[in-house]
Amino acid sequence: MKIFKGRIFSFLRKPEDINDTGSYIYLEKGAVVCDSNGVIIEINDYSKLSQKYKNAETEDFGSKIICPGFIDSHNHFPQTQVIASYGTKLLEWLNKYTFPNESLFADDKHCERESKMFLDLLNSNGVTTSVSFGSVHTSSVEYLFREAQKRNMCLIAGNVLMDRNAPNTVLEKADKSYSNSKEIIGRWHNVSRCKYAITPRFAITSTPELMEVAQSLYTENNSCYVQTHLSENIDEIKATLKLFPECKDYLSIYDKYKLLSNKTLLAHSIHLEKNETERMKETNSIAVHCPTSNLFLGSGLFRYKELEEKGVRTAVATDVGGGTSFSMFRTLDEAYKVQQLENYSLNPLATYFWSTLGNAECLGLQNQIGSIKMGNYADLIVLNSKSTSLMRHRMEKCKTIEEELFILQTLGDDRAIEAVFIAGKKMK
Ligand code: GUN
Ligand code: ZN
Repeated sequence: MKIFKGRIFSFLRKPEDINDTGSYIYLEKGAVVCDSNGVIIEINDYSKLSQKYKNAETEDFGSKIICPGFIDSHNHFPQTQVIASYGTKLLEWLNKYTFPNESLFADDKHCERESKMFLDLLNSNGVTTSVSFGSVHTSSVEYLFREAQKRNMCLIAGNVLMDRNAPNTVLEKADKSYSNSKEIIGRWHNVSRCKYAITPRFAITSTPELMEVAQSLYTENNSCYVQTHLSENIDEIKATLKLFPECKDYLSIYDKYKLLSNKTLLAHSIHLEKNETERMKETNSIAVHCPTSNLFLGSGLFRYKELEEKGVRTAVATDVGGGTSFSMFRTLDEAYKVQQLENYSLNPLATYFWSTLGNAECLGLQNQIGSIKMGNYADLIVLNSKSTSLMRHRMEKCKTIEEELFILQTLGDDRAIEAVFIAGKKMK
């Protein structure tokens, strides 16, 4: 049994606007209690719990904010050393930097070292759940799952499927991908807190035969997720439609192979046609916004408001290493700026909801992660709004919790993540 004492902030549901104080719980002198399995058993004012749990170990964070860990709904495990690669847009960036770097994951020692580094970086930035692409080598996700299991961390991941339009070192024949993926699903899907995602990279690197493999894997393992990329870059869209001339738009390719459902994560989803947004709504598939990546690769501006109004589900993610930061603060800050360019001011309740309970709902995991409630894992982070001299200075003028969250989002980074707990166990 453990008690976490501090200011508790967590969403109950999606906020309607910045004034929607009923969408969250906020306890100034609150406490969260978790059992020995790291599951939350009670949340209340500390004064109401201190006697009942007087023998429990106490982690006292004073006036710091205790909130649910962030969920990163799209990133690439083999791209930590690709971040900050200069001067290209998507297709050239893949060929010049990304594919060569991913080929290094043929080596087990490299996978082992990188998996520890990758999860350390996510955890120290307050990310307690990750949805990740591996490289084409199944050993890459094998090592990543092992590292997540050691941490009792929720990880959704898959070896990337690709069989054309890239160097041979990162390609795999479709039949081999089928048998390798099947084996890794058997070993890791729903084992500890790990789940498998069928991961065709994108249509450009998939032959129709490989898309059929993805379809078979999903039909045979329909509790798995599907993750891929969609409509990120104009040149990508043109090349894609040339490769699948029978399909009327980009999304129709994934639709043709029955890959669209409420467990399908479509990273970027920027340059969508009307038919595509309608089909995304019909299939309940999810548009994953990756703001730091979209700006870094000059891909385009995500149409958040339009997608929300049309009823398309959206998630938010770092997309490391096209994305430039493991920090969800940096990611939400860029999301805010992207929407400013779209003449829409995304409010801080919306962004914090997005990166916690919103992403959890997109993954169908809202009864395990994303909020502080009974029965969920104690995946908790502690936020220090005064972690730099500028933040301390700015906080002198702060009046509300909403304003404080916006200050954290605009000025914060990993220094503002004071502590991280995964299933109640301290990771930072
Ligand atoms: N499209 C296909 N592969 C990738 C990738 O690794 N990163 C990004 N940003 N887009 C992609
Ligand atoms: Zn990506």
